[in-house]
Amino acid sequence: MNTKEQNMKGKVCLVTGATAGIGQATVMLLAERGATVIGVGRNSAKNEYSTKIIQEKTGNSAVEYMLADLSSQKEIRALAQGFQDKYDRLDVLVNNAGATFGERLESVDGIEMTFALNHLGYFLLTNLLADILVTSRPSRVINVSSSLHRLGKLDFDNIPFKEGYARSKAYQRSKLANIGFTYEMARRFSNNDVTINAMNPGLVATNVGEVAGGVVAKMKGVVDKIAGLTPEEGAQTIIYLAASPDVAGVTGRYFVKEKSVPSAKTTYDLGFCRQLWNLSESLVA
Ligand SMILES: NC(=O)c1ccc[n+]([C@@H]2O[C@H](COP(=O)([O-])OP(=O)(O)OC[C@H]3O[C@@H](n4cnc5c(N)ncnc54)[C@H](OP(=O)(O)O)[C@@H]3O)[C@@H](O)[C@H]2O)c1
Repeated sequence: MNTKEQNMKGKVCLVTGATAGIGQATVMLLAERGATVIGVGRNSAKNEYSTKIIQEKTGNSAVEYMLADLSSQKEIRALAQGFQDKYDRLDVLVNNAGATFGERLESVDGIEMTFALNHLGYFLLTNLLADILVTSRPSRVINVSSSLHRLGKLDFDNIPFKEGYARSKAYQRSKLANIGFTYEMARRFSNNDVTINAMNPGLVATNVGEVAGGVVAKMKGVVDKIAGLTPEEGAQTIIYLAASPDVAGVTGRYFVKEKSVPSAKTTYDLGFCRQLWNLSESLVA
């Protein structure tokens, strides 16, 4: 079934990184299907602008934005609380906000920024919303990862990354962590009718536009023109995972172009996933 025909009316969806790129396209496509959509952004002006254009374009007034910097645990906690104060259900959570950093930065919590935003942001928000996901079951969590997870190496003894930091390495390990987290959470939630899957949107012409994190940053405009998918194309598999009956009950998988495909070998290592979970718990405690 074409996902365009899928009606999401009555579903409440929360999408992070919703002011640009793939996240903004996701809000738009969910709103087109009639869902109540709450985008998360860290900039009030961008939030207001996105709300306005998406409401106007889709004719769906049930689109709103909430403010949070997802590299800050305090702000993630406030977001989760604010969401639950306002909404009594959550059918779909899309963890999508992500970035790369040319220089090593630390979050306000003192954690290497890429790991804090791209991985711990997903981990903490999902765990804080776990109860409402369970009470809304069947519910779905979608974690936006990347094919670059395959190059990722996560050295549990070097999470601060003070030595050997490189933008690409920090990004790749965060995207590997997205999948390790997805598989571990799927095991922990296997009896709850909350499904959790990871996906790769492909090479999408956005601000992150993954090439921007690599050596060909200056070529980004050219590469976007040649190879970049539109944000809407990049969001297709997210919409599939959010809406399609084909994936009802399917959990703990990695999807590319609406197909479940194998992820990197490390992500199937139960010890790796458990260690990542325990470390993440300790970093958000
Ligand atoms: N583009 C690609 O080729 C590609 C390929 C594979 C995977 N991905 C993944 O797709 C996801 C979305 O990336 P994109 O390409 O759509 O990038 P994008 O256009 O740069 O959008 C990133 C979104 O994340 C938000 N964000 C960044 N830092 C944040 C923070 N500290 N707190 C809250 N929100 C924050 C941005 O907000 P602002 O608008 O305020 O900056 C923006 O809404 C990422 O997880 C990325 O790893 C992208």
